Amino acid sequence: MKITNYGHSCFSVEVKGKKLLFDPFISSNPLAKEIDAESIEADYILISHGHEDHIGDAVAIAEQTKAMVITNYEIVNWLNAQGVKNTHPMNIGGSLGLDFGRVSFVQASHSSSFSDGSYAGEAGGFIIESQEGSFYFAGDTGLTTDMKLITEFKDLLFSFLPIGGNYTMDTQSAIMASDFIKCRTIIGMHYDTFEHIQIDQKDAVEQFSAVQKELVLIDIGKTINL
Ligand code: NI
Ligand code: MN
Repeated sequence: MKITNYGHSCFSVEVKGKKLLFDPFISSNPLAKEIDAESIEADYILISHGHEDHIGDAVAIAEQTKAMVITNYEIVNWLNAQGVKNTHPMNIGGSLGLDFGRVSFVQASHSSSFSDGSYAGEAGGFIIESQEGSFYFAGDTGLTTDMKLITEFKDLLFSFLPIGGNYTMDTQSAIMASDFIKCRTIIGMHYDTFEHIQIDQKDAVEQFSAVQKELVLIDIGKTINL
């Protein structure tokens, strides 16, 4: 699968020829200045929760791509009110079969509100299953034993975990999470963008390799294959 980092927690993953865009937040990300949000292609947009650093460019990219937006019920209502009509509402525990595979919306241990403070449903994460393999996108979350349930799904080829700390897990907790989900290849996200989530990238990578796991930190704007 082809994975592109657009900064913070915004990644595109190509699955069976379809482009899945997670947590679009580009135009207000100081580290993603070289990314042109208007040129991003997507067939599906998946949003983990309502915080601005996950939803900032969702309306604009949904309008320009006509992609189907998959997120919780409350965020779907908010998007519909802003004119985004191609949406699919989910809630924790639900699964959805699509042309590329299967999407499950799973528990995250985090809050979720819109920038005006109003309720944006429960924060979640996604498990994507396809013939090309399965992966987990954790969204913003603390370490939780609920992650052990995820191993009930197919083996995970790789997982996106937050590593910036303060608002989410840090590197040490992410290593424990990778044990819980039995996954050796972790793509780091939610680090360096703001005050309070600055990390030492080299140290984070070394902490993972010390336990025979791989932390993949993709430069913003770059694409890798996994
Ligand atoms: Ni958040
Ligand atoms: Mn966040």
